[in-house]
Amino acid sequence: MTFEVEQLHPLYAAKISGFDMRRDTNPESVATLKALLDEYAVCAVRHETPLTNEEHIGFGALLGPVARKSMPRIAGTGMRVPYNEIVDQSNLDGDGKIYPDRDKRLAYKRANRLWHTDMSYRSNRATWSLLSAHVVPPEGGETETTDMRAVYDDLPEKMKARLEGLVAEHCYWHSRMLGGGPEPTPEERATRPPAQHSLVHTHPTSGRKVLYIASHVRSIAGMPDDEAKSLLEELRAITLHPEYVYYPWTVGDVLIWDNLVTMHRGTDFDDQKYIRDMRRVTCREE
Ligand SMILES: [Fe+2]
Repeated sequence: MTFEVEQLHPLYAAKISGFDMRRDTNPESVATLKALLDEYAVCAVRHETPLTNEEHIGFGALLGPVARKSMPRIAGTGMRVPYNEIVDQSNLDGDGKIYPDRDKRLAYKRANRLWHTDMSYRSNRATWSLLSAHVVPPEGGETETTDMRAVYDDLPEKMKARLEGLVAEHCYWHSRMLGGGPEPTPEERATRPPAQHSLVHTHPTSGRKVLYIASHVRSIAGMPDDEAKSLLEELRAITLHPEYVYYPWTVGDVLIWDNLVTMHRGTDFDDQKYIRDMRRVTCREE
């Protein structure tokens, strides 16, 4: 296996060429990629053509346990990508047509344009996300990422002391509504209950300390709402100074990021005019 690593940002993120997720599936190759992910947090793995759904799921399963949809299908909603291990992050409905502008499912997908980390609203959080580009819009629809290890390192000591021991509540529906989606029904709410996580945690394999926040954060335990809101706004302002990476997609790319140490978002694009077909396989904590 010979491949090239090109660092995309002074602090983190790399583009990897010559690593083939179809072929480089032996334990040594997988361990090498995991070590690169620990170092760079975000790795864009170039492929000439998109992985098939089976190849995509298969490689994800080599990195760690793959999240599967556990919710029952809603009657009448077809699955465009018929695999429980793939999250369809496109703007297409079950028949492959662009969702109408006012469709609730599109409104919820648009919330992914807010800075977040995947599945922080689960008690069993996402580790790596593997996002595969099948169709890329001609303008917009990039992915931006930010390194939350570097953000933590740069926090003033006073802020680090303030955050010590604080626990945040992450809620999927909170970010859906922040992103402009409608209030969920009580039945929908029950499908994704909130989860609690420390605002600062230590990454299990690299040992680095991380600020763990996302658009999903609704409250901080034991803190009045207005105080929590202003603390979160302060942290967001620090997090989003322009030290992030802007990733322009090419069809075939697989962008892998470690959700435990980064945030990301999709950038705007005309989702009524262009197709953006992205498919995600997500690994979870054991
Ligand atoms: Fe995401």
